[in-house]
Amino acid sequence: MALFLFLLLSLISFPLSSTEQACSSYAFSSSPEPFTSCVDLPHLNSSLHWSRSQSSAVCIAYRAPQSPNGWIAWGVNPNSSSMVGTHALVAFHHSNGSMVAYPTILDSYSPSLKPQKLGFPVYNVSAEYVKGDMVIYATVGLIGAGEGDAAAKFNQVWQEGSRVVDGVPAMHSVSGDNVLSKGSIELK
Ligand SMILES: *[C@@H]1O[C@H](CO)[C@@H](O)[C@H](O)[C@H]1NC(C)=O
Ligand SMILES: *[C@@H]1O[C@H](CO)[C@@H](O)[C@H](O)[C@H]1NC(C)=O
Ligand SMILES: *[C@@H]1O[C@H](CO)[C@@H](O)[C@H](O)[C@H]1NC(C)=O
Ligand SMILES: *[C@@H]1O[C@H](CO)[C@@H](O)[C@H](O)[C@H]1NC(C)=O
Repeated sequence: MALFLFLLLSLISFPLSSTEQACSSYAFSSSPEPFTSCVDLPHLNSSLHWSRSQSSAVCIAYRAPQSPNGWIAWGVNPNSSSMVGTHALVAFHHSNGSMVAYPTILDSYSPSLKPQKLGFPVYNVSAEYVKGDMVIYATVGLIGAGEGDAAAKFNQVWQEGSRVVDGVPAMHSVSGDNVLSKGSIELK
């Protein structure tokens, strides 16, 4: 009877714990903003955190585990759900040891990954490396992400790679989670 009850309780509690967001218990060490929402992304062990400051500006943090020599990137694709056309933020360790982060457009399957102006305003881009996690912070002016706007749904793409060569993130793996890391996000 005790075992049965235990099993029953496990069955009841499992769905509750599995819907709990691990991201919500993450404590940022130097967040410029308190984030009010977050989602654990289904691939690459990463999460997106955000809060809306003004009507169409969203403060975001993208967080993913990474080796010190690797890179991370997160972006939105206004026109499709795949990589090409994504307006992204990328972060990695500069050869001088500092974390660097900047916006770039993934205009082909072998983009330059040089700093570029995006199709929407991006402010205060920064990055940090804490306990094996890389974090990108930014404030983005996304059209449709405004207060009370029900249509704040975007195609998002996120990625990671293990090497940076001559100051440029090198090709990521093209199998497994690295080709599944895309989806949609509602920045409510
Ligand atoms: C994600 O976590 C799993 C389980 O801990 C691990 O096996 C995998 O290598 C991780 N992936 C990345 C990209 O860190
Ligand atoms: C989306 O596609 C349209 C039509 O091809 C193009 O004019 C526009 O510049 C694209 N938007 C972005 C942000 O790339
Ligand atoms: C490293 O280089 C980046 C990019 O030029 C710069 O922003 C940063 O301040 C540098 N850090 C150090 C410690 O020199
Ligand atoms: C950028 O950061 C500065 C300094 O923290 C802040 O005053 C400013 O409001 C920020 N800009 C945006 C658009 O969030």
